[in-house]
Amino acid sequence: MVSERVNRIEVSPTMKVAAEAKKMKSEGINVIDLSVGEPDFPTPENISIAAIKAIHDNQTKYTVNAGTVELRKAISKKLKDDNDLDYGIGEIIVSSGAKQSLFNAIHTIVYNDDEVIIPAPYWVSYPEMVKLAHGTSVVVQTEEKNGFRLTPKQLEDAITPKTRVLIICNPSNPTGSAYTEKDLRAIAEVVENKDIWILSDEIYEKLIYDDFKFVSFASLSEKIKQKTIIVNGVSKSYSMTGWRIGYTAGPDAIIKGIDKIQSHSTSNASSISQFATLEALTGPQDTVEMMRVEFEKRRNYLFYELTSIGGITCYKPEGAFYLFPNVSHFFGKQTETLKISNSFDFAMYLLYEAKIAAVPGSAFGSEGFIRFSYATSMANLEDAAGRLKEALAKLR
Ligand SMILES: Cc1ncc(COP(=O)(O)O)c(C=O)c1O
Repeated sequence: MVSERVNRIEVSPTMKVAAEAKKMKSEGINVIDLSVGEPDFPTPENISIAAIKAIHDNQTKYTVNAGTVELRKAISKKLKDDNDLDYGIGEIIVSSGAKQSLFNAIHTIVYNDDEVIIPAPYWVSYPEMVKLAHGTSVVVQTEEKNGFRLTPKQLEDAITPKTRVLIICNPSNPTGSAYTEKDLRAIAEVVENKDIWILSDEIYEKLIYDDFKFVSFASLSEKIKQKTIIVNGVSKSYSMTGWRIGYTAGPDAIIKGIDKIQSHSTSNASSISQFATLEALTGPQDTVEMMRVEFEKRRNYLFYELTSIGGITCYKPEGAFYLFPNVSHFFGKQTETLKISNSFDFAMYLLYEAKIAAVPGSAFGSEGFIRFSYATSMANLEDAAGRLKEALAKLR
């Protein structure tokens, strides 16, 4: 019925828990959803106003495939101001969400069994996108004790003559861990003289805590910049997930390739959303900081609560809005009705017993862990922490 290509990919494994949580909610059960991947804040008012103005101004027609010149200029300025990077507007393309940016970039560089190195835990869509491009994912398990960062040695060991790309998610979904400049330089040393692209997913760039300094991979050197494709967007930092705007910056030939693919699929991203994004990037940035500060408070709270539970260890993440605790201590434990053997069972137990929705680590290629999103109110987090402790205390 459907093509072999479609048969090869899988529906997101996060869906099973999400579908069950949704069903329970529709039955009136008070489920606290810690499985979400989007900020709970409204889109800042100035951005919405700019979009409404764009509609009234009849900015409702096709734009240039790669995005309006004004928006690409604003992205170019953002890359200069925030990351000290020089990209001309011909080296930037706007797409319908960072997801499409990644999809197009992977299709531009990967084909026919090309290998793509993906550090695990990974964002769920990377391996499926690679499959759709007929590539082969080479998954490398990172370790909790290394802050879930790929080490230069692991990278060296994973490289073969077929390696085409290394995907780096910095800061990471699902772990929240981020690479320091030193970490990135050590990775860069391994790839510098090899014919390998670095696809750097920087969508959580602005959600960084304590005094951590975010460094874009492309900014390490001119040589590295020529090998790097940056993907970023406004979904997470400006709370604009539904507006669907992401962008890619990279060498001219890559952007031209992406432009071709996009011209035969979606064409330009929504004109209204492009105007909204222009305001997001060029308007006041205080709401970004307000959200970041709030996320940091929540991270601190949930991290403290989780690590006060016996048996749970958790890496304290530098960014994003997730915690990725190790819950393998509970595997083999049970109640009268259920035995927990893996992270999926653990997630289902939390859902049924504590009425908390979370995503099992197996969905991200790392068994033994669970992902909690703290993109929800402090009141919900406080409630969740209490429920979690109660439910885990029941396991024998
Ligand atoms: C690591 C990562 N990259 C990309 C995306 C896609 O972002 P967008 O909503 O802009 O498509 C997400 C969204 O969940 C993400 O977590």
